[in-house]
Amino acid sequence: MEKLIVSGGNRLRGTVQISGSKNSALPIIAATLLTAEPCTIRGVPNLSDIQFMCDILKWLSVNVRHHKTDGVVEVHAQHPLGVAPYDLVRKMRASVCLLGPLLARLHNCKVSLPGGCVIGDRPIDQHIKGLKRLGAEVEVQNGYVHARCTELVGTDVFMGGRFGSTVLGTANIIMAATLAKGITYLEGAACEPEIEDLCDFLTKMGAKIKGSGSHMLVIEGVEQLHGAEHTVIPDRIEAGTFMAAAAMTGGDIEIKGARAEHLCAVRDKLEEAGATVHRNNGSIRVQATGLLKPVDVITMPYPGFPTDMQAQMSALMTVTPGISVITEKVFPNRFMHISEMARLGADVSLEGSSAIVKGVRGLSGAPVMASDLRASAGLVIAGLGAEGETEVNRIYHVDRGYEKLDQKLRALGAKIERVAE
Ligand code: UD1
Repeated sequence: MEKLIVSGGNRLRGTVQISGSKNSALPIIAATLLTAEPCTIRGVPNLSDIQFMCDILKWLSVNVRHHKTDGVVEVHAQHPLGVAPYDLVRKMRASVCLLGPLLARLHNCKVSLPGGCVIGDRPIDQHIKGLKRLGAEVEVQNGYVHARCTELVGTDVFMGGRFGSTVLGTANIIMAATLAKGITYLEGAACEPEIEDLCDFLTKMGAKIKGSGSHMLVIEGVEQLHGAEHTVIPDRIEAGTFMAAAAMTGGDIEIKGARAEHLCAVRDKLEEAGATVHRNNGSIRVQATGLLKPVDVITMPYPGFPTDMQAQMSALMTVTPGISVITEKVFPNRFMHISEMARLGADVSLEGSSAIVKGVRGLSGAPVMASDLRASAGLVIAGLGAEGETEVNRIYHVDRGYEKLDQKLRALGAKIERVAE
């Protein structure tokens, strides 16, 4: 196993290139199962989660070629199998988005339930409800979701749950509806940019989708879809992570490829915290002085402040003079990183789904443990702002979702090394 050694104190300066979006690429790769023709996906980041998805497709007897250095995934799903086993699915929760395309293509599939996750309870009741509305029989048995139908039939489906609209649930129902008979009216759909990107790809495959990017989608089912090529959108969470890192270190960086329109809520909060954020054509520049102001943040579904930026923003708050509050409305228990930040000297108390953060004069480096993907990014950012050495363990979480995070930070002037444990 490897770990990152971060020595804080350096201001980040320079230019960083953002990779393609992991959360776009995963459902888009799953969507290639909807056609027997070859598909080519470009701009795919080289991450372990992408590798897991490709491995599952290979297990399903699908022809997959993953050109890691070029960011290209080619898929040819001529005769996919319909069973995704626990051993592969448990490695990545996002494999649940195989359900929609497998059911639509094969009318019978079994996908293992992915199991628990440290960021909280992650039920899939909304996915199941949606598939049932389209006419599928769905049973959960022996740890598997077994979905079957004679045909899928378009109808109205409501995707809103207790914590807002489900992103991958929306992806599943959209994919299933593309091959359903008749029209599906998807209300309360998640409108994250990654869902819009999926709709763009499906449209290239011949799907008929109206309202992409909004809460109300109208999908007219077609007999079959064809092969297509697509380049995934840049990763807004990776970009947001670099924005927070710049603010933390009083840095001045240009984030190339970042789409400012996908990061309005993050930009707003960083500006409120005292950073200057310029939106250039095809990039975002963040300039910070290191003088920070407290902010209140509430995570929400898009276009609200993303839950996937909560840990990184919490890190910033730990050294912001005054009291900041961050409230989780998407995954109310997603606060595992807080106790690790306390090891660096952060003063944070949890009140229900809110973290009350009293800014301290400085953090001091210590060994910490990453509990999940975004928590690990939060700990790296905390380390960049801490005095001395912070040792971030279990960085396989980082590698699930950040392409070359340490290399990119080093190029911006950070002192960060990857070493074997
Ligand atoms: C996706 C993202 C993840 C992000 C999350 C929220 C991918 C691969 N992952 O995850 O990075 O943090 O969106 O923006 O794109 N819920 C239910 N019932 C369901 C489904 C979800 O109650 O059937 C709840 C969840 O427990 C959570 C909330 O809804 O509280 C949002 O979850 P959801 O949008 O489904 O997250 P994912 O799509 O799994």
